[in-house]
Amino acid sequence: MTTKSADKAASPRGAHRPTLAYLPGFGNHFATEALPGALPAGQNSPQRCPYGLYAEQLSGTAFTAPRAANRRTWLYRIRPGAVHRPFRRVDARRLSNEFGEVAATPNPLRWHPFPAPSAPADFVDGLTTMAGNGGPDAQAGCGIHMYAANRAMTDRYFYDADGELLIVPQQGHLRIATELGVLEVAPQEIAVVPRGVRFRVELPDGAARGYVCENFGSPFRLPDLGPIGANGLANPRDFLTPVAAYEDKEGRCELVAKFMGGLWAAEMDHSPLDVVAWHGNHAPYKYDLQLFNTIGSISYDHPDPSIFLVLQSVSDTPGVDNIDFVIFPPRWLVMQHTFRPPWYHRNVAAEFMGLVHGVYDAKSAGFLPGGASLHNCMTGHGPDAETFERAARADLSRPDVIGDTMAFMFETRLALRPTRYALECAELQADYFECWQGLKKHFDPSRP
Ligand SMILES: [Fe+2]
Repeated sequence: MTTKSADKAASPRGAHRPTLAYLPGFGNHFATEALPGALPAGQNSPQRCPYGLYAEQLSGTAFTAPRAANRRTWLYRIRPGAVHRPFRRVDARRLSNEFGEVAATPNPLRWHPFPAPSAPADFVDGLTTMAGNGGPDAQAGCGIHMYAANRAMTDRYFYDADGELLIVPQQGHLRIATELGVLEVAPQEIAVVPRGVRFRVELPDGAARGYVCENFGSPFRLPDLGPIGANGLANPRDFLTPVAAYEDKEGRCELVAKFMGGLWAAEMDHSPLDVVAWHGNHAPYKYDLQLFNTIGSISYDHPDPSIFLVLQSVSDTPGVDNIDFVIFPPRWLVMQHTFRPPWYHRNVAAEFMGLVHGVYDAKSAGFLPGGASLHNCMTGHGPDAETFERAARADLSRPDVIGDTMAFMFETRLALRPTRYALECAELQADYFECWQGLKKHFDPSRP
C-alpha cells in the first residue's frame, strides 16, 4: 500500500476544508482504490472487473516509448470514456492556438495584471491565450494562457487532447476534481493535469486567476541534476498525486474537449469522474514551489537561470528543451565583486514571465503580481535603470535577502508568437521600453 501525504487545506480566510489525501513522489507507478478490492490483482484486464467496473487504458506516450519516458494509467470505471453523445464545435471565447494571426514582434512586452471577468466565467471560459508556438499537430511547442474565473464548474467537465496543462494559480485556491482524484492548489503551488485527463475546476475562495502553460510536447519531467548530485532543486518526494475518488452521478453533464486547437462539447448523462480505482504513472500532480531547494553562487557571478529549473519538457535535441518551467523564489544573494541582479542578456530562447507574489528583483516597478512579460528570441532586456544604479553601488559585504516573492518563467525553445488579444488589450504597457532608457552612459576611456 502506498504512503499517503496530507495536504495543507486551510484557506487564507482560516476556514478549514476536509484534508485531501495524496501519494508522494514524481512519476511513480501509483496504485490506488476508492473501494477495497476495486483494483484487479495480478493483471490489467480481467474478464470481469470487481464491482462491475470497466477497465480502460489511458496512454500518455507511445506504447513503445522507452521505459523511463513511458506514461500510461489503467482506469477501473463505472462506464468507459466512450459513453457520451457526439461532440460539436463550440465557441472558445479567447482560447486559441492560432499563433500566426498577427505578426510576432521583437519588442519587449509587458502587461498589467488582468482584471476579474466582467461576466460569469468558469475555468474553461476564462482562459485567454497570450502567446504560443508549435501546435498540437506537431506535438511540439506550447500555448500560454491566463485564466480568470468567477464560477465553479459543476456539471461541466474538460479535457485537453492537445497537451498537458501546467496551472500556476496567482489568486484564489483551485479545487481540481479529476478522473484520478481531487487536488487542491493555492497560489505558490502548481498543478499539472496530463493530456487527456478529464477534470472540473471548483473555486473554494470565489474568484481566481493565474497562468497556464499548455504543453504540446513531451510530458514535463524533473531535470537531471549533473554535478549538483542526488538532491536539490525540486525534490521528487514533494510532488503529490491524488488518491482515487469517484462520482457516481447521473444527470445531464457536458464534456468539453480541446482538440486540434478548438473546443468541442458533448452531452453525457453521467459524470465522467467515475474512476473507482487506477494504477499507473499518467496522473495529475501538485507541487508547492516554496519547497524548491534553491541553489546559487557562493563565490562570484550569477549562474545561468537554468539553476532555477523546476520541470522540463524535453525535445528531440539533447539539452534543448521544448519548455522549461523556471522559478525565482526567495533566496540570498551573497556573491562578491558581482552585479547581483540578473545580467543584461539576449537569449535564443523565448521568455514569458509571470509574478505570483511579491516583487521581482530585476524590476523596481511595473511588473506586478498577476501581470506578465515576454522577452522573445534575441530581444535585449535586463534590470531597469533604477535597479542597475542601486545594484552597481550596493554594499556587497552584506547579503541581499530576497524574501517573500515568487516569479516564474515559461521558457521555450521556439520563439513565442503573441496573439492579437495580447498585442491589443488594454493591459499591454506601451511604455515598457522606457524602463531601460534611463540607463546612463558611464564609459570613460581615461578611467580603466
Ligand atoms: Fe530574461
